[in-house]
Amino acid sequence: MDWHRIRSDFPILDQQVNGHPLVYLDSAASSQKPRTVISALTHYYERDNANVHRALHELSARATDAFEAARKKTARFIGAASEDEIIFTRGSTEGINLVANTWGMQNLRPGDVILVTGMEHHSNLVPWQLLAQRTGATLKHIPVLDDGTLDPAAIETLLDERVKLLAFVHISNSLGTINPARELCARAKAVGAATLLDGAQSVGHMPVNVAEIGCDFLVFSGHKMCAPTGIGVLYGRMELLEKMPPWHGGGEMILSVTLEASTYKPPPQRFEAGTPDIAGAIGLGAAIDYLESIGLENIHRHDHNLSNYAVQCMGEVPGIRILGPQSGQRGSLVAFHLDCAHPHDLVEFANSHGVAMRGGHHCTQPLMRRFQVPGTTRASFYFYNTIEEINRLVEVLHAARKFFS
Ligand code: ALA
Repeated sequence: MDWHRIRSDFPILDQQVNGHPLVYLDSAASSQKPRTVISALTHYYERDNANVHRALHELSARATDAFEAARKKTARFIGAASEDEIIFTRGSTEGINLVANTWGMQNLRPGDVILVTGMEHHSNLVPWQLLAQRTGATLKHIPVLDDGTLDPAAIETLLDERVKLLAFVHISNSLGTINPARELCARAKAVGAATLLDGAQSVGHMPVNVAEIGCDFLVFSGHKMCAPTGIGVLYGRMELLEKMPPWHGGGEMILSVTLEASTYKPPPQRFEAGTPDIAGAIGLGAAIDYLESIGLENIHRHDHNLSNYAVQCMGEVPGIRILGPQSGQRGSLVAFHLDCAHPHDLVEFANSHGVAMRGGHHCTQPLMRRFQVPGTTRASFYFYNTIEEINRLVEVLHAARKFFS
């Protein structure tokens, strides 16, 4: 693979920041966009912009075709049985809240258990806390071991018939741990629990196939996989979606409306009230085409090589503590704590050298408490990053040690 040529598809990367070439290491927060995605948005707004599903005129037909083609593409991309299992959302957070407020409200009773893990992003924790408060269900979590993996003994004990839902992150945004999604879904299924997989950091970074994994729900965000912000996906198995009530009410999700009551369309329209993010969905379709042209296996391998190389080189910086698995398969991010500097100060220092990272609790406060750190600094990679950029990061970390000590 010619990764340097692929990198040149991203115009934003070719710039100086604070007098240095930009080194963008914050893709876990939001990825950059290739020219093809930007062009798909421009083309839509310059040629086809109109509302979808509503009018018979030419532009509306074109917009509808492009929007629905993106849905089909997304279904194929994740191995869904039908495009009707793809609900467009604003992102992973909205998808999880949708499931909590529909499937969750319908299916959970006092005595039931919602099981999550100790490494969830707040978006896969707070909605379940709210749901537990509303339904009387109990929220439990699988603890995280010192090496950043889930405690297998606790899984054995916690996953019993009282568990109605196992909701867990595929790749941790704070540790880089890749959880064994297929195995966990099979174990949940064996006790009759539904499963929700948070694919925000995995979809677009590795092949993710819902049929192979066997999850009931999958959520992911377009903006972390080269698509625009504001578009995301909730996949749900049709057998579950069909029985779920709507969440948001409004236009386009109804069959008929009287002043007293309404009947609703089948999925996915039942869950897409109002005008959707049409351009965003088209941009997501363009991102999928782009990622598939490179190959998800190739992207995964490159991600893996970058993060392994980073763990090795960064591990040699004195006073550094790297969280998460130190070897083997890990997601393309390295979160760490440097003993001489607060993460925010370190991020500012790196920024003054042109290196973009994120510092703080990364929306995983319980995990920060678990590892007894106030927060971490996180370098996160995507296939457009290079070994040279990781070398640059390591130089900056050595410079930071001198500066802050
Ligand atoms: N969830 C995003 C992150 O981890 C925002 O940075």
